[in-house]
Amino acid sequence: MTVYLVGAGPGDADLLTIRAARLLANAQVVVHDRLIGPGVLDVINPDAIRYDVGKLPGLSQSQERINQLLITLGREYEHVVRLKGGDPFVFGRGGEEVRALTDNSIRVDVVPGISSAFGAPLLAGIPVTHRGLSHGVTVVTGRSLKGSSIDFSKLANPDITLVVLMGVERRRDIATALIKGGLSPSTPIATIEWASTSSERVQRGSLDGLGELQVVAPAVLVIGPVAELATNHVETLIADLALQP
Ligand SMILES: C[S@@+](CC[C@H](N)C(=O)[O-])C[C@H]1O[C@@H](n2cnc3c(N)ncnc32)[C@H](O)[C@@H]1O
Repeated sequence: MTVYLVGAGPGDADLLTIRAARLLANAQVVVHDRLIGPGVLDVINPDAIRYDVGKLPGLSQSQERINQLLITLGREYEHVVRLKGGDPFVFGRGGEEVRALTDNSIRVDVVPGISSAFGAPLLAGIPVTHRGLSHGVTVVTGRSLKGSSIDFSKLANPDITLVVLMGVERRRDIATALIKGGLSPSTPIATIEWASTSSERVQRGSLDGLGELQVVAPAVLVIGPVAELATNHVETLIADLALQP
């Protein structure tokens, strides 16, 4: 009896790992989130029982109820898949589900997925690190939890790319705090909505215009000089790499 916590990637079924696809094809039960692409759902064993535990934002079931459902199913079935968007351990509450299951002596196996934190910028042609432009990348949530929120002014660093998940609502405040912290208002930014799906949309601009951009969730915000790079810069990237072996 195993519950497999499986990363579904950002949406496109072609971005599933082979292991994820195999587990979905053999699942007896699949418990999935809202942001799972239709192509990914098609990979599921047609005879599997399915639970959609997050149909609409705000109406999603509480984590406690989801944990309880997983425990019940984990006791009853041999092969349960808990399918989660992106990577299960990147803002996916995967750690909480693992703990709830192991506390109840249910075996858990976690399968990584492509996180939107890295997959969405890549699909927009943005390398999150790039020699001479960005020495690293910080991935943060834009959403505050129980009254506390990240102080974005402390994350202002022109040498590090900032990738914000769940940041659409607070994008104006985030931009203001980063500028207050010392980032130039002209710092390039990009927003990537619905990465890897037919609704994918990429917008580019500067930090001082982030609040004005019309952005639809789910989206990833990329802040930093690399946000200016695009697929049509690939030749430049290749040339750079050739010069610096
Ligand atoms: C609860 S977090 C889950 C993240 C997920 N575990 C991951 O690794 O991608 C949901 C957020 O991920 C981002 N996201 C997930 N899928 C996305 C996609 N296809 N395109 C853009 N952003 C996406 C959005 O910022 C969204 O608000």
